[in-house]
Amino acid sequence: MILSRLRAPALLLGCLLCLPGAARAQATAAGVELPRFVEQHGHHALIVDGAPFLILGGQCGNSSAWPSQLPSVWAAAERMHLNTLEAPVYWEEFEPEPGRFDPTLVDTLIQQARGHNVRLILLWFGTWKNGSSHYEPLWMKAQPQIYPKIIGKTGLAVDSPSPNFPATLEADRRAFRMLMRHLKAVDPFRTVIMVQVENESGAWDTIRDYSPTAQALFAQPVPAELTTALGLQGRAGGSWSAVFGPDADEYFQAWSVARFVGQVAAAGKAEYPLPLYTNCALRDPLTPGPAGTYESGGPTDNVLAIWKAAAPALDVLSPDIYQPDAERYRKVLDLYARPDNPLFVPETGGPAWTAHMVFAALGKGAVGWAPFGIDHVPAAFAPAEGLKPEDDRFAPVGQNYRIIAPIMRIAARLGSEGRLQAVAEDKDVHVQTLHFGVWDAVVSYGIVRFGSAGGPKGNPEPTGGAIVGLLGKDEFLVTGRSARVDFRLADPAARGKREFLRVEEGTFENGDFRRLRIWNGDETDYGLNFGTAPVALRVRLSSY
Ligand code: DGJ
Repeated sequence: MILSRLRAPALLLGCLLCLPGAARAQATAAGVELPRFVEQHGHHALIVDGAPFLILGGQCGNSSAWPSQLPSVWAAAERMHLNTLEAPVYWEEFEPEPGRFDPTLVDTLIQQARGHNVRLILLWFGTWKNGSSHYEPLWMKAQPQIYPKIIGKTGLAVDSPSPNFPATLEADRRAFRMLMRHLKAVDPFRTVIMVQVENESGAWDTIRDYSPTAQALFAQPVPAELTTALGLQGRAGGSWSAVFGPDADEYFQAWSVARFVGQVAAAGKAEYPLPLYTNCALRDPLTPGPAGTYESGGPTDNVLAIWKAAAPALDVLSPDIYQPDAERYRKVLDLYARPDNPLFVPETGGPAWTAHMVFAALGKGAVGWAPFGIDHVPAAFAPAEGLKPEDDRFAPVGQNYRIIAPIMRIAARLGSEGRLQAVAEDKDVHVQTLHFGVWDAVVSYGIVRFGSAGGPKGNPEPTGGAIVGLLGKDEFLVTGRSARVDFRLADPAARGKREFLRVEEGTFENGDFRRLRIWNGDETDYGLNFGTAPVALRVRLSSY
């Protein structure tokens, strides 16, 4: 690691100069407080610079974390108003020769991120990248007998690394450990807030490894750790087939991959305990189909308990959401938002309608959300996606981030206390109601300027969303996009009606509200109307 030691002082000086005010004030010789997850009554917060933080993220393309590409990446980040960039670290470049580590690309990313006042999530493209091992260093690829691929049921090798060979695990553990050690040395101000371990691990084209080594492991008893974690103590000592029947192949693969990734994560965390997560190529959340029709071994929704038992060093198991419709999208959010798993969507994408799903994710308690491929020049893909080459595919995401960014800290805090609700427009549902004790917040889409003639019709495309947070008794934080928010007494038998005592537009800074103006008259008589501009309201209610 000679290179990293030489670089550290220059990077540290750069840090101090580029730190945002709050972080600079907190900085000590030991650095800024480490990011961490906290859980309270099943609600999660990612703490960054000492307070809950929402990742308004974006991921660059796979081959974009190079100095030649970074100008386009930062331009996209700026257009989108994101606060966190996700960018890969390539094992093949980080360890060009066994035991020689070159952190140049990592250092460049950190330095430039500081200059752009953006946090980083680094993606460790290690043993797995989309089920294959294409980012392993050349010296590993040249020795497949030491770092083997999976052998499929037919006896042929599959383009996927086997999780069952200690040499591959040891090589990955060592490299990841060095990466985390390096981050600890050069990043006391926590520009890097989280690290992804591997990328969409598992295998396509086979359910598991059927090599002789894997077969021998498969014939052994299921580890007691797993039977205990799954509440199957009664079956302890049984083989994989005896304990899991038709699911044995899939569960064996999930355990093997999770165990591997968990050990890589643990090695890195022992060096530098940043929050760690891994991401998943999902199975269909409504009609999954049999094993073998989706990537096998990653943290798909049916094996989350196996992953939790096998890889406790991972703070989060995250869904990469590329679903064809909103119903499936919402179902995935439900499946991964659990008391034992913070919801973080590290990749999402697809058609323009997905932009407003950031509101749906926040409504499920997400700590962050990030579209994939923010710097891709759309020209090549535009026709297939119904766009013109000059269109900015991420403009709608940018509009939403502009709305959420000013309230990011307070929304994150309210979310971690279970006092935040948010909704995304559904194409068939034009009114959504949020329940806050005696008050209901009613969100409607496709409204006319004055009054409500004809009722809400929905926006021409479902792009709307709203965020409502409970600030105190009868007091709310409200913002939204292409939506109207109104309040009513939840009890239909209540004799009175809601009255806006005061509606103030303003900013929330460090927990304090600073008023810009009072809304009244047309601005409140028909409900609170939001377009695409960022508007945050503090609303105090009464009834008469
Ligand atoms: C999911 C992967 O995790 C990304 O790295 C990228 O390959 C995208 N798929 C492409 O859609």
